[in-house]
Amino acid sequence: MRPLTRSDATCLDLDIPSYMNTDDIYGVLKSRLSRLSEYNRATFAAVLVQAIEVCRMKIPDFDEVLAAQARIEPYIHHTPVLTSSYLNDRCGAELFFKCENLQKVGAFKARGACNAVFGLSAAAAVNGVATHSSGNHAAALSYAAARRGIEASVVMPSTAAAAKKAAVQSYGGKVIECEPTQAARETGLSRLVAATGADAVHPYDDDRVIAGQATCALELHREIDELDAVVAPIGGGGLISGTCLTLATLAPATRIYAAEPANADDAYRSLKAGEIVERDAQQSVADGLKTNLKPRTWHFVSNYVEAILLASETEILDAMYLTWERMKIIIEPSSAVALAVILKHRDRFRGQRVGVIITGGNVDIKHCPGCKT
Ligand SMILES: Cc1ncc(COP(=O)(O)O)c(C=O)c1O
Repeated sequence: MRPLTRSDATCLDLDIPSYMNTDDIYGVLKSRLSRLSEYNRATFAAVLVQAIEVCRMKIPDFDEVLAAQARIEPYIHHTPVLTSSYLNDRCGAELFFKCENLQKVGAFKARGACNAVFGLSAAAAVNGVATHSSGNHAAALSYAAARRGIEASVVMPSTAAAAKKAAVQSYGGKVIECEPTQAARETGLSRLVAATGADAVHPYDDDRVIAGQATCALELHREIDELDAVVAPIGGGGLISGTCLTLATLAPATRIYAAEPANADDAYRSLKAGEIVERDAQQSVADGLKTNLKPRTWHFVSNYVEAILLASETEILDAMYLTWERMKIIIEPSSAVALAVILKHRDRFRGQRVGVIITGGNVDIKHCPGCKT
């Protein structure tokens, strides 16, 4: 059964008391539907249960973005917007690069993590925060927790690169190793949360994280007005959801494009199919973009994203090295996908003012991706 969208769910116009949990609701529905055949009963009840979960899912609004901006301001950088006349000429467009590679921890993830951590009440913060991630979110959550003076624990696959574990530890985070499967990561986190009472902060399926990521487009919009388009990479969709949240409110005419590696094109396939399509993690140099959408991020992608544009592995690496060389800034492959799709789809952006979110700069320059050493 395809996951329901929020608009499907609201169409059903459900009025279920908030004290009922999903099992209660399921039980009630099953007994009320006893006149239907067994198959229809189970399917119908399952659809309704899903609809209720989607209705209860918290979607942040723009006020939460403004609150996030005020809350995280002391802990993050207001990153610069850079331009390059060389790249403008190459693309036939005016590009404005929002440089989150120069953000704390080297990625926009500091925004969402700080919003989640500094939004916790004193009582909720006492037990610290936890997540499962092997990427920038793990370091960002550790950074935010350290600034607040609370503990951060990160469940990481035992196979994660030593450099990634070291990055978490360097910000004071505690690494808990698990088997290298999605199931082991999720079980590991559930156990950890049950044992410690830590607050679980998902890398993108979390309204606090989305509101935090939305502050990036807010800063860009305040500095550069009248953008025709904004292009940002998409993994699980937390950043693009935040971008949609901000721009749908402040600049509804600005078109929003997501950039994705062709090797990890689950969001592209989802938008085409009109429902979330999950794919196993593929091999891609853009390791931050291998995650799948969730109903909360699908809500934004399906309602506000103009198109998802794909780039090959070679195009991503070419765009990354081009940025290093011409702009003199270090960006990681996951960030370079945005420029790669603009270079590839020049006609779509020709003559336009385009915001480009450079999401991060965490790359091991001693082992350059794609270099033959
Ligand atoms: C550098 C970088 N860019 C983009 C993304 C994708 O972000 P999201 O999962 O919010 O779509 C990530 C996620 O880890 C990342 O680390």
